[in-house]
Amino acid sequence: MMKLDSTQALLKEDISSYQEQVSRIHKMIHDKSGAGNDRLGWVDWAENYDKEEFERMIKVAEKLNDKTDCVVVCGIGGSYLGARAAIEMIQGLYPDQAKEVVFIGNTFSSNYISQVLNHIKDKDVVVNVISKSGTTTETALAFRLLKQFMERKYGKEECRERILATTDRSKGTLKELANKEGYETFVIPDDIGGRYSVITPVGLLPMALMGIDIREVMKGLQAAYADLNTDDLSKNDAYQYAVARRILQNQGYNVEMFVTYEPQLQCLGEWFKQLMGESEGKEGKGILPDSATFSTDLHSLGQFIQEGKKVLFETLLAVEKPTLDSVVPTDPDNLDGMNYLAGKNLDWINKMAMKGTLAAHVETGGVPNLQISIPDMSAYSFGYQCYWFFKATAMTCYMLDINPFDQPGVEVYKKNMFKLLGKPE
Ligand code: PA5
Repeated sequence: MMKLDSTQALLKEDISSYQEQVSRIHKMIHDKSGAGNDRLGWVDWAENYDKEEFERMIKVAEKLNDKTDCVVVCGIGGSYLGARAAIEMIQGLYPDQAKEVVFIGNTFSSNYISQVLNHIKDKDVVVNVISKSGTTTETALAFRLLKQFMERKYGKEECRERILATTDRSKGTLKELANKEGYETFVIPDDIGGRYSVITPVGLLPMALMGIDIREVMKGLQAAYADLNTDDLSKNDAYQYAVARRILQNQGYNVEMFVTYEPQLQCLGEWFKQLMGESEGKEGKGILPDSATFSTDLHSLGQFIQEGKKVLFETLLAVEKPTLDSVVPTDPDNLDGMNYLAGKNLDWINKMAMKGTLAAHVETGGVPNLQISIPDMSAYSFGYQCYWFFKATAMTCYMLDINPFDQPGVEVYKKNMFKLLGKPE
């Protein structure tokens, strides 16, 4: 399914020389004996997920399907990025369907929030508010406005059907509010942290509401669970990638640029940045994750990558088969000089740009490139790649002696902000 090619990564060490360390950490992940071991629920989630709840999500989505042309997803961080990455990857940015998804709860921007509320005012709206704690300020504030909007538009009774809450199983402000208002609730498991939670109702419910076949997502997850349940580095490409990152950082590369050639994967890059950044960036350690969409960003960042300071390596996620394709038409006048490409598929051209860029960056620029290939942008592939990156993240963090599952640093800004906002202690 997903393959790593490290032949262009300019590695000065052999990946296989890390076998012993990888075997030890693999055991630690599966025995749940490492740091943050109360957050390893994702490891066996492909088998242990709540089947009843899964079917309930599908039923709710089917029931609401005719009633809605707009799904509003309210959440931030781990309660936002995965769902967006999945929906955009699988359906594209301008999908051929009447229903649209709108994200809110991920900013304090008065402009953004006001525009969203204005944009949805004449639509048939369903809301999925997602927050483990219920106290995340961006999400809680946006939901307060959204709730008022929904109650004015539909009345409290209908809101019971149109507002779905994804939160803690039994505690927290959102759980209390949902119980009081009579909203249907879905569970964020205690042992799966935000950035690993897209495979739970956090990501699956918004996907289902948007008409994505979440059974396919789970099938992909299950396949990856089976394929990657080995410590044998020669058979586990996710672990090879984890090791290659460590080797590259040892060689002095402290920035990883996650590159795709598909605009609909831009948010996957954002998801990747949270996954790696929050998991690894602590105790003064870690590689800074960045992302870029080529060829767009070759016309901006391309200069730095080619000739700037040699701080970064690229991780290229290459999609083998496009979801859609077009053929370049012939133009008798050929005023734009593009006839030399007439009859060629756009995806073929995109792949030639990728090939040419790879050679430019690696051979001329000396920028290491790790290449990960994925067959397509289907729901199945999305599920598969989630587990692939989760496993790689856990391995690469444990190799650095870092707890991959906490994020103590994100509390600092909140403390300062609460003080300025006058939040009661
Ligand atoms: O990774 C994380 O833990 C964060 O990004 C959280 O997911 C984010 O802050 C949202 O938290 P909550 O679901 O409690 O609203």
